[in-house]
Amino acid sequence: MKPTQVLNRTTILTAGLLLTAALFTSCRSSSPNGAVNAARHQFSFALTADIRQFTGPKHPGPQYFEGTCSALRDLGPGDFMISPGDIDPPAAIRATLDHFFGSNYVWYPVVGNHEAETPEDMAWLRTWGRQPIPGLVRRGPAGCETTTYSFDHGPAHFAVLNQYYNGKSDTGSRGDVVDPLYEWLRMDLTANRKPIVFVVGHEPISPIADMDNGRLRHKGDSLDAYPANAQRFLDLMRQHRVTAYLTAHSHNTSVTNLAGVWQVDAGHARGLGDKGARSSFLKLHVYPSGCRVDIYRDDGKGGAYQLTRSVELKAAGNP
Ligand SMILES: [Fe+2]
Repeated sequence: MKPTQVLNRTTILTAGLLLTAALFTSCRSSSPNGAVNAARHQFSFALTADIRQFTGPKHPGPQYFEGTCSALRDLGPGDFMISPGDIDPPAAIRATLDHFFGSNYVWYPVVGNHEAETPEDMAWLRTWGRQPIPGLVRRGPAGCETTTYSFDHGPAHFAVLNQYYNGKSDTGSRGDVVDPLYEWLRMDLTANRKPIVFVVGHEPISPIADMDNGRLRHKGDSLDAYPANAQRFLDLMRQHRVTAYLTAHSHNTSVTNLAGVWQVDAGHARGLGDKGARSSFLKLHVYPSGCRVDIYRDDGKGGAYQLTRSVELKAAGNP
């Protein structure tokens, strides 16, 4: 073997090792709160909702939210979890996440109607929101600074809305995107430069039937109770090329393109707490060119979860 061939092989091997190390370093870095931070270019996160009291200590065991978490732990919970509402009491949910994923696992809670109606739940959520929010970009409008917020993670931007804000109180509306909340979102989306964008709120723009059994709930008393505001909200998201609107409230799981914006309804993650539709958790995979949502559901009898469907969310919601 000629010396130049040995040199070439050594050079290639060294270059390969250096490239691998550089890629690893660029994909994992420590955040100020000590948690492992975003893969810079791609990551995944979990979506669960409408759990309510169906976890320990009231409803412990694998047939309820603990079963959801056990399945998610086996799969890998992603960088964080978002729960778009009806997560009362939030301290019990947080305790379950601590048990399954550790106290450093980030959870972004969102106000639902059942938190808005319960002072103790709102107190917990306001306290959470007063503390440093990982990746925080912007706090909500006056009167809603702790429960409306936006944050960045990797190539994605997230705007989280408290839809029970009425312009003064963070518990003053029945589920709406009122003028001050709309203006805040418009400002936030206008300032954003991240290519992947999610908006999160408890109530669907229009509830969609469950993708497996067709059950429909809360039609006419979600954001669609205020059709002009709901349409304005949808138009704003389309204008700003929002990738998906993440929501809940209906207990039914669905992924639907609403005239250019994906509406992803997480369904419920309470196991046998609602026997009318299969318990669900969603895993969203974000990469530079788009996003994919994987839907995991139980067997409807409190049993094992399995992947039931994957939906590619084309950029800007273009099907
Ligand atoms: Fe709800």
